[in-house]
Amino acid sequence: MTTNSDIIARSNRAFTPAFHFYHSIAIERGEGCRIIDVEGNSYLDCASGLGALNIGHNHPRVMAAVSRQLARYCHTGGVFYNETTVAAAELLTSITPTGLDRLFFSNSGAEAVEGAIKLARYVTGRQGILAFGGAFHGRTLGALSLTSSNARYRERYAPLLPSVYHAPYPYCFHCQFGCKGAGCNLGCFGYLEEMLRRYVTPREVAAIIIEPILGEGGYVPAPAEFLKRLRRLCDENGILLIFDEVQSGMGRCGDWFAAQTYGVTPDILTVAKGIASGFPLSAVVSRADLMDKWPTWAHGTTFGGNPVSCAAAIATIEAIRDDGLLARCRELGTATVTRLNAFQEHHPIVGDVRGKGLMIGLELVKEDGTPDDAACAKVLEECLSKGLIVINCGPERNIIRLIPPLTISDVELGQALDILERAIETAGQKDR
Ligand SMILES: Cc1ncc(COP(=O)(O)O)c(C=O)c1O
Repeated sequence: MTTNSDIIARSNRAFTPAFHFYHSIAIERGEGCRIIDVEGNSYLDCASGLGALNIGHNHPRVMAAVSRQLARYCHTGGVFYNETTVAAAELLTSITPTGLDRLFFSNSGAEAVEGAIKLARYVTGRQGILAFGGAFHGRTLGALSLTSSNARYRERYAPLLPSVYHAPYPYCFHCQFGCKGAGCNLGCFGYLEEMLRRYVTPREVAAIIIEPILGEGGYVPAPAEFLKRLRRLCDENGILLIFDEVQSGMGRCGDWFAAQTYGVTPDILTVAKGIASGFPLSAVVSRADLMDKWPTWAHGTTFGGNPVSCAAAIATIEAIRDDGLLARCRELGTATVTRLNAFQEHHPIVGDVRGKGLMIGLELVKEDGTPDDAACAKVLEECLSKGLIVINCGPERNIIRLIPPLTISDVELGQALDILERAIETAGQKDR
């Protein structure tokens, strides 16, 4: 029998360490919220393939649509038109925020971010891009210039894109401006305004890009007022607002997009991960008046809008819509945060519980409030040994991210939370 160790040993020979996997198991089969490893062990998967499997592994509707598409054709490479790719675009723009109804398909989140930067620079004729500290926008050199969730991702790659500025993300749990709760005067927004006085004039800024819910950087929902003021600032200065919803989009936060949860519409939206249930697809979506200024040859792709991925995207969107998964996501998200808040009251190692829908972060801290990355690593290990897959995030890797498929049952979610809470208790005891 092939073992997990066999495959890991082969991987270690085949791949550079940069091609990295979180957990020391190799999947044999996946179905819904469960995976079985090559040794026959079963796990509840609350990592959802880094947030790409919003309706779980091998959803029957997606698999059927992909099989039908495979039997017809699987690639066009931009040589000719095809109906499946158009249908996916039509369906996607029926769920994106009102007015964002024209798109460009590519393959990965980073590629969508590259497209968004290029579009913004092209149509404004300006160079500056303002991003936020802690953001993760991808690893290609353009996207990496915006990424600042961890200096290790940027190390030795300079020079990156010029004219990129980073403002502090509105990370309330670690507010750099001493604001707390009702007393918050959005000092972070004031800092951003100050940057536009000191470092770069607004008329040189093409776009402000933000994850409305910070992903890799720590699972932090931005305060609604911050995003509203950002929208106003962009409107007043002809700056394009980009929401990177590669992680928060496609139903993950309880609406199709966090933009809709917040009631703030960006000019440009990036979409990837959950869009096609694990098949590679991403999109830059924007208004027709902007997209129409982006001419043929200004951007391009060979694999973007692949018909097989597009068939998967159509089936994914239809499954989320027809099975009422947005409402279900909100309901499960509220119940989970309520339960974890109650748990937090008796477990000071849990410094903060936050999230929207089923994009939930638990920040583990030491007694002095500093990040407890060691405890977090123990929790992940302990969970795995009990059959639960969760992953972490944040610059100190001390934040557990809980991103189960939206299709998770009450029983499965209950089991996952039981395992997680017990693992945190165990780590907390050993840690203190
Ligand atoms: C918000 C956000 N943007 C961009 C990316 C990059 O996506 P990809 O890894 O598909 O290039 C990610 C990946 O985690 C992400 O979370």
